[in-house]
Amino acid sequence: MSTNTKNEKLINALVQIGVEISAQKDVDKLFEIILTSCMDITDSDAGSIYFKEQSQRRKKKNNILDSCSRAGSGDRAEDDEKRKNSKEEEVKATKEDQDIEYLRFQYTQNRSKSFPFSSFTLPINDQSIAGACAYNGKTYVLQTMDETVEKIGIHHNSDFDKKMGYRTCNMLVIPMKNYDGEVIGVLQLINKKKNTSDVLIPPYDYDEKIDRYTEQEVSVVESLAAQAAILIERAQLFEGIESLLSSFINTLVTALDQRDTITAGHSRRVTKYAMNLARAVNKAKEGKYKNACFDDLELKELYYAGLLHDVGKIGVREFVLMKENKLTDAQMSVISYRYKWMMSELRIKLNSGSSTDNDKYQLEMIPTWLENIKDINTCGFLTDERKQNLSVICEQIIEINGERIPLITEEEKKFLSVQKGNLTQEEREMIQSHATYSFEILDGIEWTTELLDVPEIAGAHHEFLNGQGYPKGIKGDEIMLQSKILTVADIFDALTASDRPYKPAVPIPRSLNILEEEVKANHLDEELVRLFIDEKLYIIDENQEVEQ
Ligand SMILES: [Fe+2]
Ligand SMILES: [Fe+2]
Repeated sequence: MSTNTKNEKLINALVQIGVEISAQKDVDKLFEIILTSCMDITDSDAGSIYFKEQSQRRKKKNNILDSCSRAGSGDRAEDDEKRKNSKEEEVKATKEDQDIEYLRFQYTQNRSKSFPFSSFTLPINDQSIAGACAYNGKTYVLQTMDETVEKIGIHHNSDFDKKMGYRTCNMLVIPMKNYDGEVIGVLQLINKKKNTSDVLIPPYDYDEKIDRYTEQEVSVVESLAAQAAILIERAQLFEGIESLLSSFINTLVTALDQRDTITAGHSRRVTKYAMNLARAVNKAKEGKYKNACFDDLELKELYYAGLLHDVGKIGVREFVLMKENKLTDAQMSVISYRYKWMMSELRIKLNSGSSTDNDKYQLEMIPTWLENIKDINTCGFLTDERKQNLSVICEQIIEINGERIPLITEEEKKFLSVQKGNLTQEEREMIQSHATYSFEILDGIEWTTELLDVPEIAGAHHEFLNGQGYPKGIKGDEIMLQSKILTVADIFDALTASDRPYKPAVPIPRSLNILEEEVKANHLDEELVRLFIDEKLYIIDENQEVEQ
C-alpha cells in the first residue's frame, strides 16, 4: 500500500472513529469500537483493553461499614469496643487501599483464534507488560517480545500463548490517560500483520506475516487512546449518575414500603408486570400494538414511573392508608369502654331501684349491640339486616345521671354507615389524592430529557379509558400507553396481593376475569389485557430485581 493511500486510510478511519465514539454512551460498546478501530488502523491480529478498577476502595470500605453496623449486640460496652475495633480496622484498610490499584482485563479480540473470555485483574506495577504501562504511564513498542527485558525489565511470559495455541510476536501497549493525565486504562495491540486478512495459526512464518509497528501508527493510536479515555470516563460518569438515580429511587421505594407495610412490595411487583407488558407490546406482531415499540429509554422511563407510581401516598394520612375496617382500632376500643361504663351505670340505677323499663332493656341489649357493631365494622358490605341493626343502635339514647348520651356518636355512625368497603367518601378522596401527589412530587424533580414523562405516566395510573378514573378523568388516547400499562399492572396486583390482612388475595384465574370485566366496563385497554393473559405476563419472580 502506498504511503499516500495509507495516510488517506488512516485519516478516514480517524474521522469515522471520532464520529462513532463521540456519540456512544455505552461503556462496553465504546470498548468494542475503540479496540476494533485500533486493530484496523494498525493491522493488528489481536488486542485487549485493561481498565483501572474503580470499585476496589469502595467495596472494601463498605465491608468495614457493614461489619460496623452488624456489631450491635445490645451490650453497650461490648458494642463500643467492637465499633472502636472496626474503626481501627477501617483506618488500617483505608491505608492499605491507597497502595492497591488493579487493572481489569476488560475486553479482548483475536482475529485468528477464538479464546474463551474470562475477566481477571492484575496489579499496577512493573511485573507485567500492561501493569508496567499503567504504572509508568508510558507507551511500549515491543517489536519482538525479547524487548520486554530491555524496556520493562521482565521476561515475556509465553505460558498463556502455549496454552491457547497462539504466538505473540510483537506488541504495542499504550496507556489511556484522562484529562488530568491519570492513567485509567491500557490498550494493548498484538501482532501487527503485513496483510490484514492473514490468519495467524502457529507455526507460521514470522518474517512472512508479521510487520513492525510504525511511528505514525503509534502516534495515531496514542491520540485515539487519549480521546477514548476521556469518552470512557464520561460514559462511566453517565453510568454512575444512572446508578445513583436508580439506587436512590429503590431506596425511596423501600422507605415507602416500610411506612405502608400492608402494600409493601406492591410498587416493585407492579413495575415487573408493567415491564413484562411493555416488552410484550414490543414483540407484538399483530393487533393494535404491532407497530408500537418502546425504545430502551422509554422502557427506563416506564421502570421509574412504575417504581414511583404510588410515591404520592407520602401525602396521605397514615390512618386512612392503613385502615382495615370501617372504624379504627382506637375508635372501636373507645366504644367498648363506653359500653362497659354505660352498663355499670345502668346496673347502679337498677340496684338503686330507679331504672325504667327502657333502662332494663338497654342494659340487656348493649352486649348484643356491641356484637352488631363489631360485625358491621368488619363487614365488606352493609346488608339490609345490618342496616336495620345499625339504625336500632343509632336510635338508642342512654340516660345516666340526668344526661342523655347516644349509644354511638354521629361520627361513628358516619363511618359504620359505609355501604361497601371501609372508606367514607372523604377518606376515599384522601386516598385518591395520592395520584395527584405522585404527579406533583415527581414533577418537582429535574428529570433528564429522556425521563421527562415519568410524572405524567405515574400520575395517570388510576385513569380509565372511559374517563371515569382519577385524578384528571382523562380518557382514551389522552392517556399515555405507558399509563394504561401501569393501570393493568396496578389493578392485577391489588387483586392478587397476599399481604393485605383485611382482604384475602383473589385467586389468579378470578383476577384475570376481573381484568376482562374491567375491559368490558371500558376501564382497561383490551389489547393490553389480552397480552397480559395470553402471554402469561402475570408470572413474575418476586425475589428477582426488577429489570430496566
Ligand atoms: Fe395508586
Ligand atoms: Fe399502586
